[in-house]
Amino acid sequence: MRDAIRGPPCLARDFFSTVSMMAQLAGDSVYGQPSVYDLAFSIDARREMQMLEHAFERFTIGNVRRVFEPACGTGRLMYRLAKRGYQVAGNDLSPEMVHYCNARLARHGFSRAARVEDMTDFRLARPVDAMFNLLSSFRHLPNDAAALRHLNGVSQSLRPGGIYLLGMQLTAESEGTPLAESWSARRGHMAVITYLRTAWLDLQQRQESCEIKQEVYTPSGIRHIRDTQVFRTYMHQQVLDLLAGIPELQIVGAYDPRSNEPCLVDVQPETQDIVYVLQRVMDKKT
Ligand SMILES: C[S@@+](CC[C@H](N)C(=O)[O-])C[C@H]1O[C@@H](n2cnc3c(N)ncnc32)[C@H](O)[C@@H]1O
Repeated sequence: MRDAIRGPPCLARDFFSTVSMMAQLAGDSVYGQPSVYDLAFSIDARREMQMLEHAFERFTIGNVRRVFEPACGTGRLMYRLAKRGYQVAGNDLSPEMVHYCNARLARHGFSRAARVEDMTDFRLARPVDAMFNLLSSFRHLPNDAAALRHLNGVSQSLRPGGIYLLGMQLTAESEGTPLAESWSARRGHMAVITYLRTAWLDLQQRQESCEIKQEVYTPSGIRHIRDTQVFRTYMHQQVLDLLAGIPELQIVGAYDPRSNEPCLVDVQPETQDIVYVLQRVMDKKT
């Protein structure tokens, strides 16, 4: 269960930039520790799976068999989808994440379908029926140009009538509620407590720095991971403005990812957590 703490978390930007630099020098990146990441960020996997399959059924024209995840990380949802009979593949910038993802797919008898690749510029040789990109991974793309290149790649790699589920934390228009939450997870001999919060928010530059601290408990002791990741900020209108540049992708719905059951919502000015459903428009002649 996540424990959301709303408060004034904005500390000095320089302090966190220094911590981030030190973390990177020490190789202390949250994406460099896939087993810890996978444990911490899989706590909502059941709900996420239900939402994905609900969207496949409700919004895709035709059946979904082939699915691709840009920025797939550990493939925590890819391997669950594979077990449900979908043909899955993905890409990620982190070799550690991709290695972990492929090793688990192979352990479960599936092909090693993740590859190290930048989601900014990618094209699939054969278009897929659906794609998904959750947990604000899209916000790693640093500017409009990179985001548009990514969305172009998506639109060219989705078949007409296929969908792209794009999940992110929006900035509320009031700017009043920066991120601050903590939760714990346990699997086998490992337990992890994760603390996640906005370190600083710069709406002029459209950057949010998120600090992640993890305490990892194993029989051999306690380990600490500390990292910061800079994300591009989006308000709902900024998402709409961006998508205006890709008319082949149309918003056809939106989910509240925190809901216990798949729940379609209207995006409001104060909405923060959202999963957009984008549909690749049908070609005129199809
Ligand atoms: C928050 S994690 C989400 C991983 C996975 N989608 C999930 O739901 O667990 C963000 C991921 O984006 C990856 N990433 C960041 N920038 C990327 C890029 N330009 N291209 C591909 N992957 C990227 C990171 O390596 C990391 O695995």
